[in-house]
This record gives sequence, structure tokens and C-alpha cells, in this order.
Amino acid sequence: MAKTVTLKIQRQDSADRTESRRWEEFAVEWHPSMNVISALMEIRKNPVTKEGKKVAPVVWESVCLEEVCGSCTMVINGKVRQACTALIDQIAPNGETVTLAPMTKFPLVRDLLVDRSRMFNDLKKVKAWIQLDGTHELGPGPRQSQENQEEAYPLSRCMTCGCCLEACPQVNDHSKFIGPSAINQVRLFNLHPSGAMHANERLETLMGEGGIADCGKAQNCVEVCPKEIPLVDSIAAMGRATTKHLLFGWLLK
Ligand code: SF4
Ligand code: SF4
Ligand code: FES
Repeated sequence: MAKTVTLKIQRQDSADRTESRRWEEFAVEWHPSMNVISALMEIRKNPVTKEGKKVAPVVWESVCLEEVCGSCTMVINGKVRQACTALIDQIAPNGETVTLAPMTKFPLVRDLLVDRSRMFNDLKKVKAWIQLDGTHELGPGPRQSQENQEEAYPLSRCMTCGCCLEACPQVNDHSKFIGPSAINQVRLFNLHPSGAMHANERLETLMGEGGIADCGKAQNCVEVCPKEIPLVDSIAAMGRATTKHLLFGWLLK
């Protein structure tokens, strides 16, 4: 008989139908180098549970399949990570059951799919972009030094996946905390020679409600970031920058 892998998946039919929350188990044929997404694709082709019951196909999201877009983020065997880089042979080396559940810090859409809009809205809140007036010729922008590029590059690898928010105890239903990824983006854009022109606006957003003061410094975020972004360093750097702005910002007004 062909070797199989068991996936135990948390299901829910829609955001408001909490009574439909349940676990279902599926057995899929093992293939060398298979990952969680390819196992989910097999289930989609034939959505029949281990007990032989035909069910609705499991809903999830994935785009790049190479840990670049962040869309396939879910809780796999209790740990938040990307499904596309979760190799079955690594997460269940002895044929253990693989459990899949949606992230809990984002509104559920269905099954394993959540709505990460809050992260994109937070990027808007902190103006995570370089603002340029494209209506006339501005000439060359300020040069970016090699050192500046080297400091910025690791910060720029964020894929808005949500792992850090999922792991952060300060991100919850009772808090407005913006979370570590947006704070890191403020550091990134404030470092940029053109982005620095709007540094104070970004810092003031971080000084407002749900800002950097809500970080409890538990450091869970840096542990789970798949891109190894130095989130705790970014939080510390922005903490210093906001304090400086609070003390001396009035001089600049
Ligand atoms: S250091 Fe802790 S509280 Fe602060 S953002 Fe990271 S996980 Fe959240
Ligand atoms: S900082 Fe890391 S964990 Fe957080 S959203 Fe960006 S890539 Fe994901
Ligand atoms: S599909 Fe893009 S990160 Fe997994």
C-alpha cells in the first residue's frame, strides 16, 4: 500500500459561523519533497476525509510558492510559518499527523484563509513609502551610501506575512498595537535619504495610540520572523528615535 500522510485541518465555513468550527482529517499519498501546499492541493482534488466522508474543498491562500509573498502563512503543528516551505518530511519525519490551523490574530475568512488587511492598513498609517512629487522634474535624489544600503536591506525583506503579529502577546482583541512589522518599516523608510524627509510624521504615528509604547518587549516576534528581520533592534531604534523626537522635536517646528 502507498505511504500516506495525515493532515488534521481546522475548518470553519465562514467568519460568522463559529458553530461550524471542527477538525477534519485527510490522508494523502506521500511524494518525495512534498510540502503542505502540495498536500492541500491533493486534498482539493479529492476532498474526502479519512472516514470516507465527502466534504467541501479546504480553502487556503498561496501565490509565490517560494516564501516571498507571505500569503500561505498558517499555524502548522502549533507554530506559525509558511505552508509552501513546510516540507512534510521535515515536519512529520516519522509519519506523524500534521495539524493545520489558521492564524488567530486576523479575521478568519474560511478554513485556513484569514484577512491580513490590517497589516496593509498599518503600512498606510505609517506612510511606508517614499513620497515624491511626480508633477515636475526633481533632479537626482540624495545619494544612498553603501552603509545605509547595508543597514536597510535586511529590514526591507518583510513580506507582510503576519507571523510576528501572530506570535506577539501584545497583539490581541483588546489592543490597538500596530505590531513589530510596521515599526520595522518606519525604521526602513526613515533610514532612506528621501524617506527621511517624512521621518517625523512616521515617528508621530508610532507615538500615538497603539504605537511603540505598547510593545511589551517579549521578543517573540524576532523568533518567528521567517526573514530573520532584526525586529527587536528596529523596535529599540524606533524607541530611541521617538524619545528624541518627544524631547527635541519642538525645536524643528
Ligand atoms: S518585542 Fe514582544 S511585544 Fe514587542 S513586538 Fe515583539 S513580540 Fe510584540
Ligand atoms: S517582519 Fe517578518 S514575521 Fe513580520 S510580517 Fe515581516 S516577514 Fe513576516
Ligand atoms: S505562497 Fe508565497 S510565501 Fe508561501
